[in-house]
Amino acid sequence: MRKPVYYGEYLQLDKLLDCQQRESFSAGKPAHDEMLFIIVHQAYELWFKQILFELDAVMDIFRKSHVSESAVAQAVAHLTRVEEIQKLLIHQIDVLETMTPLDFLDFRDFLVPASGFQSWQFRLIETTLGLKQEKRVTFGNMSYLERLQGADRERLELAETRPSLFDLLEKWLERTPFLSFKSFEFWDSYRQAVTNMLDGDRDLIASNPTLSSEERQKQIDMLERTRAEFAVLFDPAAHAKLQSEGAWRLSHKALQAALLIQLYRDQPILHMPYKLLSLLMDIDENFTTWRYRHSLMVLRMIGSKIGTGGSSGHDYLRQTARTHKVFGDLFAMSTFFIPRSDLPSLPADIEESLNFHYTATHKKAV
Ligand code: HEM
Repeated sequence: MRKPVYYGEYLQLDKLLDCQQRESFSAGKPAHDEMLFIIVHQAYELWFKQILFELDAVMDIFRKSHVSESAVAQAVAHLTRVEEIQKLLIHQIDVLETMTPLDFLDFRDFLVPASGFQSWQFRLIETTLGLKQEKRVTFGNMSYLERLQGADRERLELAETRPSLFDLLEKWLERTPFLSFKSFEFWDSYRQAVTNMLDGDRDLIASNPTLSSEERQKQIDMLERTRAEFAVLFDPAAHAKLQSEGAWRLSHKALQAALLIQLYRDQPILHMPYKLLSLLMDIDENFTTWRYRHSLMVLRMIGSKIGTGGSSGHDYLRQTARTHKVFGDLFAMSTFFIPRSDLPSLPADIEESLNFHYTATHKKAV
């Protein structure tokens, strides 16, 4: 017979509750708030572990050459969990901020040179999502890897050689079958719709009686700038150039697929892919929010002092908040959205193919 499970043993509470070793106590200068500091960090690391567990499951899904609709739904469920955890992570900063700067000073010096900068799980989340090493803000002419020790560093070095979620997602987008589907060529139809929309806008400006000739010219110039932005989108060579300069990261084909998914998101079969792209943006945005909150907390806690890890502190953290993003293309893509009323309507047979099969056959039967 199986031994009855006992709460404390199952959760290994003895172990878990016996790992808050306070440096200030060991040094004979006990600081009350060091307990909170350790527990908050440990809670973060536990949640990081769960985030990595969910991301691993998502990576397993997208590593396959065929990703079924139900697998996309599973990925959405994993990422929704990540997003909810992130909300807790942001909120935890409030708990830590009940510690005042003076309370922190009671034990800060005992921590040098350790720093959250060395959280290998945080780095692994970033690398798994797709933050590239060359895009990281550095200090002291050193890669972040050089500041990690032993097994922590090895794990990260290995992760750097593997495809990230960004890479897998790009390949998945490139395989989207609906870009060219039966008689529907998405790119041609979309391009025509954009031309019609811009020509319509030009006519509106030209015939607007309330505009002075100066204002009219200003608006036409602005419209032509928008037309030039779209022209780059329609020119694969121009896109490749922007990609090599780092302005765009997704390949041209993946970009087209992401646009199709966003523009036709109300089609049932594209709805889950749309949720997936939205969640990736939410997750990117939540990390940015956490970074800003953390950098503000740091400013409040240590002012303009350098960090225990040796960076410029608040300034360094503000820079990472601005630049350490992975799915920026999905945000930037909104430039190319056009109103639903201007979207090419899908031929009826294609609309039926994009519907859930059950609904389509049920409709026929009635
Ligand atoms: C009193 C509270 C805190 C202070 C004063 C503080 C300060 C800093 C500073 C100054 C840095 C920049 C690196 C350095 O020079 O050390 C840093 C980085 C970092 N801290 Fe904190 N931190 C605090 C709490 C936390 C908490 C609770 C976490 C949760 C795990 C955390 C996670 C991180 C991470 C992941 C980085 C690296 C960020 C990056 O490089 O983008 N910190 N922290």
